[in-house]
This record gives sequence, C-alpha cells and structure tokens, in this order.
Amino acid sequence: MNATLVTAAGVWLLLVGSALAADPAAGKAKAAQCAACHGANGIAVLPDAPHLAGQNEIYLVKALKDYRSGARKHEQMSVMAKGLSDKDIDNLAAWYNRMPPGGGAAGGGGGTAGSDGGASGSTSKKK
Ligand code: HEC
Repeated sequence: MNATLVTAAGVWLLLVGSALAADPAAGKAKAAQCAACHGANGIAVLPDAPHLAGQNEIYLVKALKDYRSGARKHEQMSVMAKGLSDKDIDNLAAWYNRMPPGGGAAGGGGGTAGSDGGASGSTSKKK
C-alpha cells in the first residue's frame, strides 16, 4: 500500500508540477518588449494589435509557436517570436493569461488605460 501512496503522490506532483512549470514572473520580465504594442497591462496600445490580457494560456502558446514556426505570419510578430524559447513562450502565456481582461494592472504597475475598459466591453465581466 505504500507503493500506492507513492504512486498517488507521484501523479499529484506531476500534475501540480506541470501546472506550475510556467513562471509568470519571468513572463512579466520578458513582456517588457511586448508592451510597446500590447500594452503594459495587456491592453493593446496599437490599433492593429490584439489585447492579450486574460487570453487563454493554451491559445497564447499556440499563437506564439505558430508565429515562430511560420505557420502564422505577421511582419512584426514573426520577428518577435523568433527570439523566444519554448520556456519564454510558456512564461509569457502564463503572465498574460493572469492579467485581468479589463486592463487593471496585474503586477501593481501604474495602468494607463482606465480600469473601466472602454474598448469593446461586450462581454460581461465576471470578477
Ligand atoms: C511591434 C509591435 C508588436 C510587438 C513588439 C509585439 N507584438 Fe504581438 N502582435 C502585434 C500585432 C500587430 C499582432 C496581430 C498580428 C496578426 O494580425 O496576426 C500581434 C499578435 C500577437 C499575438 C496573437 C494574439 C491573437 O489574439 O491571436 C500574440 C499571442 C502576441 N502578439 C504576443 C506578443 C508577445 C508575447 C510579444 C513580446 C514577446 C509581442 N507580441 C510583441 C504587434 C506586436
């Protein structure tokens, strides 16, 4: 029965381990180079750039890997993604995923956009 316990603990560690594998704090540091277009709070400052705050983590990882591989092409994003490792991508996705979609400052940085998020608030906010 000890073996069962050990196995259970092992599975638990695996699950928790993979969930914690991404490091949002490291993602935040990396995201400094993304802020010029996607905003420090994940709300885009360029008219043609998408908001990333609160976006699904798996989707963000896929999008960045697609830019990097060339499966998805964009003049600026393809260049940006080329310099990212798998780890960078995981961390960045974890960081943007954890930002509040309304644009409130996630890491305590001074947000520039109004926290009332006027852009396109069609979806009701669940806090
Ligand atoms: C020079 C401006 C610029 C910079 C810097 C930039 N991006 Fe982008 N990003 C864009 C634009 C514009 C798009 C929309 C591209 C398209 O139409 O496919 C985009 C798209 C994306 C998407 C896809 C979002 C979606 O909804 O499909 C992700 C994810 C993303 N960027 C992440 C990043 C990350 C992470 C960084 C920093 C490492 C970064 N970007 C840096 C301009 C930028």
